[in-house]
Amino acid sequence: MVKKYYFGNWKMYQTFSSVKKFVKDLKADKDWQNRLDDRYVGIAASYEHLYFLAQKLGNSFLLQGAQDCSQFTQGAYTGQVSVQSLLDVNIDFCIIGHNEARFYLEQSHEQIALKFKVLLAAGISPILCIGENLVEKEEGRTLEILFDQLEIILEILKKYTGTIKIFIAYEPVYAIGTGMIPSQKDLQDVFGFLQQLKNQVLIPENILFLYGGSVSSKTVISLQQINELSGFLIGKSSIDFQELKKIVEL
Ligand code: PGA
Repeated sequence: MVKKYYFGNWKMYQTFSSVKKFVKDLKADKDWQNRLDDRYVGIAASYEHLYFLAQKLGNSFLLQGAQDCSQFTQGAYTGQVSVQSLLDVNIDFCIIGHNEARFYLEQSHEQIALKFKVLLAAGISPILCIGENLVEKEEGRTLEILFDQLEIILEILKKYTGTIKIFIAYEPVYAIGTGMIPSQKDLQDVFGFLQQLKNQVLIPENILFLYGGSVSSKTVISLQQINELSGFLIGKSSIDFQELKKIVEL
C-alpha cells in the first residue's frame, strides 16, 4: 500500500458529548499529525455533528465526511440533506451505498448512482460501499453481486474525466459489526476482480479501494497484506480516538 486512508464511519454511535471528547483527545495529542507520514485520517460523522467538527477541526489534517446525501440537489425533500449544504460545512468525502442504508432505507442501485453523480459534480469524493451477504457468499455469488452493485457506476466512470478521488469500499455484510473478516483468499479474489473492473474506466488512477467490516487493532495487520488496498473504512473501532489511533499507527 502506498498511501493509506483510514476513514472512520461513526454511524449513529456518537452523542454531542462523545464527539467533544473525541475532539479533545485528538487535540491533546499535538504530535500525532507529524507521525502520520503518508497516512490520511477521515471521519464520517452524523449530519448534526458536522458543523461542530468543521469549527473545531476545519483547519486540521483530519478529512471530514458525511454518511449519506440526497440524490436531489434542492427542493421539497423532507428529511434529506443536500450536497450543497454539505459543501457549506466543507466536507471532503461522503459515504454512499452503505449496507445499512441499502437495507434499512431500501436505497436502490439507481438511487445510489444518482447520489454518486451529484457528489462528482460537487467535487466531493464518494466512498461507495459494496458487498454481498452471507447467503450470497455461500451460494458462490460474491462477484456477481458486486458487479450488480457496480454496473451503473462503471458506466458513469467510463465517461468521468474529473480528478477527484473515488473510493470503492468492499464491505461484506457478514463482516460488518460481527468481528469476522473474510479469508485472504476471498479478499484476493474480490480485489483481483475489482482491479479488472477498474481498468475499464476512463481514468483508473482516480479509483482507490478500501476494505470495511470489523477493522480493529486486532484485524488490521492481516488486512494490510492485500496489495490492492488503499485503506480502510472503520465503524465501531473509530468512535474512540485511542483505538482509532492504534489502528492507524499499526
Ligand atoms: P464495523 O463497521 O467496523 O463496525 O464492522 C464498518 C462499516 O460498516 O463501515
